[in-house]
Amino acid sequence: MNTSDSRQTPSSPAPALTPNWTWVPIRSLCPRHRERITAHLLALGVSDRFLRFGYPASDAQISKYVDMLDFEQDEVFGIFSRRLELIAMAHLAHAAPNPTTPGAASSEFGVSVLPHARARGFGRRLFEHAMLHARNRGVETLFIHALSANTVMLKIARNAGATVVREGSESDAWLKLPPDTLASHVGELVEQRVAELDYRLKVHAHQVNGILDVLGEVKASLNKAAHVAEE
Ligand SMILES: CC(C)(COP(=O)(O)OP(=O)(O)OC[C@H]1O[C@@H](n2cnc3c(N)ncnc32)[C@H](O)[C@@H]1OP(=O)(O)O)[C@@H](O)C(=O)NCCC(=O)NCCS
Repeated sequence: MNTSDSRQTPSSPAPALTPNWTWVPIRSLCPRHRERITAHLLALGVSDRFLRFGYPASDAQISKYVDMLDFEQDEVFGIFSRRLELIAMAHLAHAAPNPTTPGAASSEFGVSVLPHARARGFGRRLFEHAMLHARNRGVETLFIHALSANTVMLKIARNAGATVVREGSESDAWLKLPPDTLASHVGELVEQRVAELDYRLKVHAHQVNGILDVLGEVKASLNKAAHVAEE
Protein backbone atom coordinates (compact mmCIF):
# COMPACT_ATOMS: atom_id res chain seq x y z
CA MET A 1 0.00 0.00 0.00
CA ASN A 2 1.29 3.42 -0.92
CA THR A 3 1.47 5.96 1.85
CA SER A 4 2.55 8.71 -0.51
CA ASP A 5 1.12 10.05 -3.72
CA SER A 6 4.26 9.80 -5.80
CA ARG A 7 7.86 8.67 -5.82
CA GLN A 8 9.12 12.19 -6.25
CA THR A 9 12.02 13.32 -4.11
CA PRO A 10 11.30 15.95 -1.45
CA SER A 11 11.54 19.51 -2.67
CA SER A 12 13.39 20.98 0.30
CA PRO A 13 16.87 19.94 1.44
CA ALA A 14 17.38 17.80 4.51
CA PRO A 15 17.29 19.72 7.79
CA ALA A 16 20.40 19.92 9.91
CA LEU A 17 20.59 16.91 12.20
CA THR A 18 20.53 17.31 15.94
CA PRO A 19 24.06 17.79 17.32
CA ASN A 20 25.79 14.53 18.07
CA TRP A 21 27.85 14.76 21.23
CA THR A 22 29.30 11.25 21.02
CA TRP A 23 32.07 11.12 18.50
CA VAL A 24 32.39 7.81 16.66
CA PRO A 25 35.43 7.16 14.46
CA ILE A 26 34.24 6.16 10.98
CA ARG A 27 36.91 4.98 8.61
CA SER A 28 36.87 4.59 4.84
CA LEU A 29 37.45 0.99 3.79
CA CYS A 30 39.51 -0.19 0.82
CA PRO A 31 40.21 -3.48 -0.99
CA ARG A 32 42.54 -4.71 1.76
CA HIS A 33 39.56 -4.72 4.15
CA ARG A 34 37.62 -7.26 2.06
CA GLU A 35 38.33 -10.04 4.55
CA ARG A 36 37.03 -7.99 7.51
CA ILE A 37 33.97 -6.91 5.51
CA THR A 38 33.22 -10.55 4.67
CA ALA A 39 33.62 -11.56 8.33
CA HIS A 40 31.27 -8.74 9.37
CA LEU A 41 28.55 -9.72 6.89
CA LEU A 42 28.87 -13.47 7.54
CA ALA A 43 28.32 -12.74 11.25
CA LEU A 44 24.81 -11.45 10.43
CA GLY A 45 22.00 -13.94 11.06
CA VAL A 46 19.43 -14.92 8.43
CA SER A 47 16.88 -12.23 9.33
CA ASP A 48 19.55 -9.50 9.39
CA ARG A 49 20.83 -10.62 5.99
CA PHE A 50 17.26 -10.40 4.75
CA LEU A 51 16.92 -6.86 6.11
CA ARG A 52 20.30 -5.81 4.73
CA PHE A 53 20.09 -7.29 1.22
CA GLY A 54 16.36 -7.77 0.71
CA TYR A 55 16.87 -11.55 0.52
CA PRO A 56 18.38 -14.13 2.90
CA ALA A 57 21.86 -13.92 1.33
CA SER A 58 23.84 -17.16 1.56
CA ASP A 59 27.52 -17.18 2.54
CA ALA A 60 28.43 -17.60 -1.13
CA GLN A 61 26.26 -14.63 -2.15
CA ILE A 62 27.88 -12.50 0.54
CA SER A 63 31.36 -13.48 -0.66
CA LYS A 64 30.37 -12.58 -4.20
CA TYR A 65 28.94 -9.23 -3.06
CA VAL A 66 32.20 -8.40 -1.25
CA ASP A 67 34.30 -9.49 -4.25
CA MET A 68 32.24 -7.20 -6.48
CA LEU A 69 32.56 -4.11 -4.23
CA ASP A 70 33.96 -1.28 -6.31
CA PHE A 71 35.97 0.92 -3.95
CA GLU A 72 36.77 3.39 -6.73
CA GLN A 73 33.19 4.09 -7.78
CA ASP A 74 31.49 3.64 -4.39
CA GLU A 75 32.26 4.52 -0.81
CA VAL A 76 32.51 1.83 1.85
CA PHE A 77 33.14 2.84 5.43
CA GLY A 78 32.98 1.32 8.86
CA ILE A 79 33.46 1.43 12.61
CA PHE A 80 36.11 -0.75 14.26
CA SER A 81 36.10 -1.96 17.85
CA ARG A 82 39.23 -1.73 19.98
CA ARG A 83 39.96 -5.31 18.94
CA LEU A 84 39.77 -4.21 15.30
CA GLU A 85 36.53 -6.06 14.68
CA LEU A 86 34.43 -4.33 12.02
CA ILE A 87 31.30 -3.84 14.14
CA ALA A 88 29.40 -1.61 11.71
CA MET A 89 29.71 -0.84 8.03
CA ALA A 90 27.92 1.03 5.28
CA HIS A 91 28.03 0.98 1.50
CA LEU A 92 27.20 4.11 -0.42
CA ALA A 93 26.65 3.07 -4.04
CA HIS A 94 26.87 6.00 -6.42
CA ALA A 95 24.72 5.82 -9.52
CA ALA A 96 26.87 5.89 -12.64
CA PRO A 97 27.04 9.49 -13.91
CA ASN A 98 24.48 10.23 -16.60
CA PRO A 99 25.68 12.94 -18.99
CA THR A 100 22.11 13.67 -20.13
CA THR A 101 20.90 14.57 -16.62
CA PRO A 102 23.66 16.60 -15.00
CA GLY A 103 23.08 17.42 -11.36
CA ALA A 104 20.65 14.53 -10.87
CA ALA A 105 23.19 12.36 -9.06
CA SER A 106 21.86 9.95 -6.45
CA SER A 107 23.44 7.34 -4.21
CA GLU A 108 22.02 4.28 -2.48
CA PHE A 109 22.80 3.62 1.18
CA GLY A 110 23.05 0.15 2.73
CA VAL A 111 24.16 -0.51 6.31
CA SER A 112 24.64 -3.19 8.94
CA VAL A 113 25.62 -3.13 12.61
CA LEU A 114 26.53 -6.33 14.45
CA PRO A 115 23.83 -7.29 16.98
CA HIS A 116 26.04 -6.73 20.03
CA ALA A 117 26.82 -3.16 18.91
CA ARG A 118 23.27 -2.02 18.18
CA ALA A 119 21.20 0.80 19.68
CA ARG A 120 24.36 2.81 20.37
CA GLY A 121 23.83 5.28 17.55
CA PHE A 122 26.23 3.63 15.06
CA GLY A 123 23.58 3.21 12.36
CA ARG A 124 22.59 6.86 12.66
CA ARG A 125 26.22 8.02 12.65
CA LEU A 126 26.99 6.00 9.51
CA PHE A 127 24.00 7.58 7.83
CA GLU A 128 25.13 11.08 8.80
CA HIS A 129 28.61 10.26 7.53
CA ALA A 130 27.11 9.08 4.23
CA MET A 131 25.11 12.31 3.96
CA LEU A 132 28.22 14.43 4.46
CA HIS A 133 30.32 12.37 2.08
CA ALA A 134 27.64 12.34 -0.62
CA ARG A 135 26.87 16.07 -0.55
CA ASN A 136 30.60 16.84 -0.75
CA ARG A 137 30.65 14.88 -4.01
CA GLY A 138 27.74 16.74 -5.53
CA VAL A 139 25.18 14.01 -4.86
CA GLU A 140 21.72 15.52 -4.62
CA THR A 141 19.66 12.63 -3.34
CA LEU A 142 20.32 9.76 -0.97
CA PHE A 143 18.19 6.65 -1.47
CA ILE A 144 17.45 3.79 0.91
CA HIS A 145 15.51 0.67 0.01
CA ALA A 146 14.27 -1.16 3.09
CA LEU A 147 11.64 -3.62 4.15
CA SER A 148 8.64 -1.78 5.61
CA ALA A 149 9.11 -3.88 8.76
CA ASN A 150 12.56 -2.36 9.22
CA THR A 151 11.36 0.33 11.60
CA VAL A 152 14.85 1.16 12.92
CA MET A 153 16.31 1.84 9.47
CA LEU A 154 13.26 3.84 8.42
CA LYS A 155 13.45 5.79 11.68
CA ILE A 156 17.06 6.75 10.91
CA ALA A 157 15.98 7.94 7.45
CA ARG A 158 12.92 9.82 8.72
CA ASN A 159 14.87 11.47 11.53
CA ALA A 160 17.25 12.82 8.89
CA GLY A 161 14.32 14.30 6.98
CA ALA A 162 13.79 11.61 4.32
CA THR A 163 10.49 11.09 2.52
CA VAL A 164 9.45 7.47 2.91
CA VAL A 165 7.31 5.85 0.24
CA ARG A 166 5.79 2.56 1.31
CA GLU A 167 4.83 -0.11 -1.21
CA GLY A 168 3.45 -3.04 0.74
CA SER A 169 6.24 -4.98 2.40
CA GLU A 170 8.94 -2.72 0.94
CA SER A 171 9.72 0.97 1.35
CA ASP A 172 11.88 3.50 -0.41
CA ALA A 173 13.28 6.52 1.40
CA TRP A 174 14.56 9.59 -0.43
CA LEU A 175 16.59 12.30 1.19
CA LYS A 176 17.39 15.51 -0.65
CA LEU A 177 20.84 16.71 0.38
CA PRO A 178 21.87 20.34 0.82
CA PRO A 179 24.70 21.57 -1.42
CA ASP A 180 28.27 21.27 -0.17
CA THR A 181 29.94 24.15 1.66
CA LEU A 182 33.45 24.90 2.84
CA ALA A 183 32.34 23.80 6.33
CA SER A 184 31.05 20.44 5.04
CA HIS A 185 34.40 19.78 3.31
CA VAL A 186 36.42 20.78 6.36
CA GLY A 187 34.10 18.69 8.55
CA GLU A 188 34.68 15.59 6.42
CA LEU A 189 38.44 16.14 6.26
CA VAL A 190 38.75 16.50 10.03
CA GLU A 191 36.55 13.43 10.57
CA GLN A 192 38.70 11.38 8.17
CA ARG A 193 42.00 12.42 9.74
CA VAL A 194 40.89 11.77 13.31
CA ALA A 195 39.33 8.42 12.35
CA GLU A 196 42.59 7.42 10.63
CA LEU A 197 44.55 8.35 13.75
CA ASP A 198 42.12 6.41 15.94
CA TYR A 199 42.53 3.35 13.69
CA ARG A 200 46.33 3.53 13.83
CA LEU A 201 46.24 3.77 17.62
CA LYS A 202 43.99 0.70 17.73
CA VAL A 203 46.36 -1.21 15.41
CA HIS A 204 49.29 -0.17 17.61
CA ALA A 205 47.48 -1.21 20.81
CA HIS A 206 46.54 -4.50 19.14
CA GLN A 207 50.21 -5.15 18.27
CA VAL A 208 51.37 -4.22 21.79
CA ASN A 209 48.77 -6.59 23.26
CA GLY A 210 50.04 -9.33 20.92
CA ILE A 211 53.62 -8.76 22.12
CA LEU A 212 52.48 -8.78 25.76
CA ASP A 213 50.64 -12.06 25.15
CA VAL A 214 53.78 -13.62 23.64
CA LEU A 215 55.92 -12.32 26.53
CA GLY A 216 53.38 -13.78 28.97
CA GLU A 217 53.61 -17.15 27.23
CA VAL A 218 57.44 -17.04 27.23
CA LYS A 219 57.45 -16.15 30.94
CA ALA A 220 55.05 -19.00 31.72
CA SER A 221 57.25 -21.46 29.77
CA LEU A 222 60.40 -20.24 31.56
CA ASN A 223 58.70 -20.58 34.96
CA LYS A 224 57.59 -24.09 34.04
CA ALA A 225 61.10 -25.03 32.85
CA ALA A 226 62.64 -23.63 36.06
CA HIS A 227 60.10 -25.60 38.12
CA VAL A 228 60.97 -28.83 36.27
CA ALA A 229 64.74 -28.14 36.71
CA GLU A 230 64.27 -27.69 40.48
CA GLU A 231 62.52 -31.09 40.80
C1 LIG B 1 19.23 -0.93 11.04
C2 LIG B 1 20.54 -0.95 11.84
C3 LIG B 1 21.69 -0.60 10.91
C4 LIG B 1 20.42 0.11 12.95
O1 LIG B 1 21.67 0.22 13.59
P1 LIG B 1 21.81 0.75 15.10
O2 LIG B 1 23.22 1.13 15.31
O3 LIG B 1 21.24 -0.25 16.04
O4 LIG B 1 20.85 2.05 15.09
P2 LIG B 1 20.98 3.31 16.04
O5 LIG B 1 21.53 2.91 17.37
O6 LIG B 1 21.68 4.39 15.31
O7 LIG B 1 19.44 3.70 16.26
C5 LIG B 1 18.73 4.44 15.30
C6 LIG B 1 17.39 4.85 15.90
O8 LIG B 1 16.57 3.70 16.11
C7 LIG B 1 16.27 3.55 17.48
N1 LIG B 1 16.42 2.13 17.79
C8 LIG B 1 17.54 1.40 17.74
N2 LIG B 1 17.27 0.13 18.04
C9 LIG B 1 15.95 0.08 18.30
C10 LIG B 1 15.06 -0.97 18.64
N3 LIG B 1 15.49 -2.22 18.81
N4 LIG B 1 13.77 -0.68 18.80
C11 LIG B 1 13.31 0.57 18.65
N5 LIG B 1 14.09 1.61 18.30
C12 LIG B 1 15.40 1.36 18.12
C13 LIG B 1 17.29 4.38 18.23
O9 LIG B 1 16.79 4.84 19.46
C14 LIG B 1 17.53 5.49 17.26
O10 LIG B 1 16.53 6.46 17.33
P3 LIG B 1 16.84 7.94 17.89
O11 LIG B 1 18.03 8.45 17.08
O12 LIG B 1 15.58 8.70 17.64
O13 LIG B 1 17.19 7.73 19.33
C15 LIG B 1 20.77 -2.34 12.52
O14 LIG B 1 19.64 -2.66 13.27
C16 LIG B 1 21.08 -3.45 11.53
O15 LIG B 1 22.23 -3.68 11.18
N6 LIG B 1 20.03 -4.19 11.08
C17 LIG B 1 20.24 -5.30 10.11
C18 LIG B 1 20.58 -4.78 8.71
C19 LIG B 1 19.62 -3.72 8.26
O16 LIG B 1 18.45 -3.70 8.58
N7 LIG B 1 20.13 -2.79 7.44
C20 LIG B 1 19.33 -1.70 6.91
C21 LIG B 1 18.85 -1.97 5.53
S1 LIG B 1 19.87 -1.18 4.37
